[in-house]
Amino acid sequence: MIYIGSDHGGYTLKLEIIDHLRERGFEVTDIGCDSEASCDYPIYAKKVTDAIIDGSADKGILVCGTGIGMSMAANKVSGIRAALCHDVFSAQATREHNNANILCLGARVVGPGLALMIVDTFVDTAFSNDERHVRRLKLYDAL
Ligand code: RB5
Repeated sequence: MIYIGSDHGGYTLKLEIIDHLRERGFEVTDIGCDSEASCDYPIYAKKVTDAIIDGSADKGILVCGTGIGMSMAANKVSGIRAALCHDVFSAQATREHNNANILCLGARVVGPGLALMIVDTFVDTAFSNDERHVRRLKLYDAL
């Protein structure tokens, strides 16, 4: 299950991502927001991080104008590894190396075509389980 949330700045891109992932057969839960009316990104970041921590979600996607506020908010939560990615290489690397569990996107930074490629790469790439990355994630978790 993928949980997805946005603020107003990411609302339209979020809808495109949801349609795309559902067409691909993924189960997606949209936790809001529900319009382009101005709202506060930490509220929606928390709903997605809660779902990851309680096991309702395997992965999360958070979209705001830049992706920065969402990634800052999500990474305050222990157990969350949120990656702000605006290119396909980073999306692949953060799954393989960092076992990122949330993808953050800035809807005012990337167009929808690239955003969907980044999303596909994120959801299709497995953690490498390489010993050095496991070791680094243990050190990360201990911070
Ligand atoms: C909203 O204007 C904007 O600040 C927000 O979407 C996001 O970019 C914050 O980091």
